[in-house]
Amino acid sequence: MVAKQFLKPDKEMLDKNPLDSGGLYPDPELLLSEDNIDLNILKRLVGQSVVSVKQFDKELVLEICKFAALLESTEIASCHPLDGKIIITAFFEASTRTRLSFESAVLRLDGKIISIPIGTSTGTAKGESISDIGEMFNAYGDLVVMRHTETDAVEQLMQNLRIPMINAGNGTGEHPTQSLADWFAILKWRPELKNSVPENEKIHLAILGTPGSMRAVNSFLRMSLLFKDNIRQITFVSEMADPLGDELQEEIDKTKIKYHITHDINEVISDIDVFYMNSIAFLGDSYKSLDSRFKLNKDTKMKDDAVVLHPLARLDELDPNLDHTTHNLYFTQAHGAVFIRQALFISIMNRFDKLPQNQIPIKESK
Ligand code: CP
Repeated sequence: MVAKQFLKPDKEMLDKNPLDSGGLYPDPELLLSEDNIDLNILKRLVGQSVVSVKQFDKELVLEICKFAALLESTEIASCHPLDGKIIITAFFEASTRTRLSFESAVLRLDGKIISIPIGTSTGTAKGESISDIGEMFNAYGDLVVMRHTETDAVEQLMQNLRIPMINAGNGTGEHPTQSLADWFAILKWRPELKNSVPENEKIHLAILGTPGSMRAVNSFLRMSLLFKDNIRQITFVSEMADPLGDELQEEIDKTKIKYHITHDINEVISDIDVFYMNSIAFLGDSYKSLDSRFKLNKDTKMKDDAVVLHPLARLDELDPNLDHTTHNLYFTQAHGAVFIRQALFISIMNRFDKLPQNQIPIKESK
């Protein structure tokens, strides 16, 4: 029997903003004020694949985030920006947010999707190679978004691929569009970080996790280094003796950012502005939980205005009792990913001419 209360519309429910979880929701328009979006910088993405954060500089990250802020605050679906385009989402590893936010981004721009939600539904179950699958993608779609359990799958796919590819997470490698979503959330929270800020406004970043073996943390760290002028310190909280590995350590050393590694989160907790945490490290077809003994909850003695980022899925390192506090920037981070992914699609497909020109604060630098 259907419960009586479901038979008529619930007014309270209809009036609710479905995105408002009780966490922190900074206004995206703050990222746009006084600033036009530089089309020439975004046009560097036309026809390109997005494989690694190594492809980005600070200038490009800022323009993508500003463009995403515009998409978040402007109704453009009626312009059908991806009209006639087919996006292939090929997920050879489980995902909640990444696949669905990419697909939501396409559908809200009136593009079309063909999807592999689980790798075993493809010829890989019969031994087909990823490079052969890449050859097929050329005929079936205009862009492919791929996630894979194996770090070298991106390289294999690209052997035969002649359409753009977006890396949606490859093994222990990278997750570059996640780090764009991460920095989109940070820049909405503190828009002044677009420019150099005085010493007392620079942020102390705590990374709870192992960048050397967690792709989202790896990409977040690499992108954070682009904002080196606005970072006062990075503290890595990890149970591993060497959570970075040689390459990342060298990259940090080049920036001259002050950093240290600790096993004790309490050493630094009251000085941290941004906590970035994760505990899931992917290893082939399975995952293991690392660093999950470092937990954050409502009783953690954080600064009043400190924020927490987490790419999710969470295990028990991030207590749901933080969800309804202003420390929760992680739901904004997840929700904003739709607009970051829209910004990438429009830029890669060069569909800027489909935007409502009179509403868009866009300039073209010389
Ligand atoms: N952030 C992220 O990659 O989440 P999913 O694994 O659910 O895609």
